[in-house]
Amino acid sequence: MRRIALIGFGGVGQAFAAVLAERGEDLRREMGLDARIVAVSDPFKGAVYQEGGLDLRALSACVREKGSVDAYPEGPGVVRGLDSIATIQETAADTIVEVSPTLPGGEPSIGYCRAAFASGKHVITSNKGPAALGYAELSAAAKAVGAYFGIEGTVMSGTPSLWLGKAALAGNRISEIRGILNGTTNYMLTRMEEGLEYDDALGEAQQLGYAEAEPSSDVDGHDAQFKIVILAQHVLGVPLRLEQVQRTGIRDLTRKDVEAAVRAGSHWKLLARVEVDGSEVRASVGPVRVPSADALASVRGALNAITYQCDLMGPVTLVGAGAGRQETAFALLADLIRIEQRAATGRSLA
Ligand code: HSE
Repeated sequence: MRRIALIGFGGVGQAFAAVLAERGEDLRREMGLDARIVAVSDPFKGAVYQEGGLDLRALSACVREKGSVDAYPEGPGVVRGLDSIATIQETAADTIVEVSPTLPGGEPSIGYCRAAFASGKHVITSNKGPAALGYAELSAAAKAVGAYFGIEGTVMSGTPSLWLGKAALAGNRISEIRGILNGTTNYMLTRMEEGLEYDDALGEAQQLGYAEAEPSSDVDGHDAQFKIVILAQHVLGVPLRLEQVQRTGIRDLTRKDVEAAVRAGSHWKLLARVEVDGSEVRASVGPVRVPSADALASVRGALNAITYQCDLMGPVTLVGAGAGRQETAFALLADLIRIEQRAATGRSLA
């Protein structure tokens, strides 16, 4: 049995619990994955632990109706009020799903991951901080204790962008990764092609919930910068730091620029890129006029896409959702399945 502690019980954490509640039986039957959430700890929604596994329907009903897990019913071995570190260190969970609210510097997520590995537990996180800023330290800490550091959800949510580069394309030499890794800006550029001004397109993206509350993270390219750093480290194995990525956002693009590009047979896209040339690594995030024939040019709306330039395979492009609660919950599940497969076979590529 795999025992999971959820650190953070916001939208993604709740969506993950809902997926396990809905699909738990299928996972057991089809792949022998008996996954139980044994603990939840959230600074706003409270904490509850039950070693044999929480009743997920009761758990989600408490949060839905009362906004907290405090009303979770009494039962054998129910323990309440453990903070996140105590939940990581003191419960019988073997896998920590870290989906806590995190700050730009990556804390408290990085500290939670560190504590989990120090306790010999696997970590799955959808927070970009640990994967971009703490990658070298945390992946070494995981390796030292034979634990898994699952970060699939940090880039393109559940669209398996990391798995594709690291596992499915293994055996190729990858010389370049380029992608549309931010849904907000791609949505805005698409709407500007359809005639909206920049501010109206941004307003729409905010209304639809694509943009961050502080849109600078999206429009100035910070979000995509984190993601290309994750790809470089995880897939290419190069120690790229945020400050090594040349970054420009889309603030200076107008509706007229975008329309002029379309008339000339191309599309403005915010591209994140990393290129490896011998020992040299170059990385950037910025607006690029992409010719219509390029697979990335036709990616519209909030969709994301990534192209791996491979020596044996040539360019391979993957298109899919880049965000969303259910989509990110799927990424967490995908990592959980990989942990199970690794436990069964003793090895894994991603
Ligand atoms: N605001 C981000 C986006 C969410 O628009 O892609 C996913 O990181």
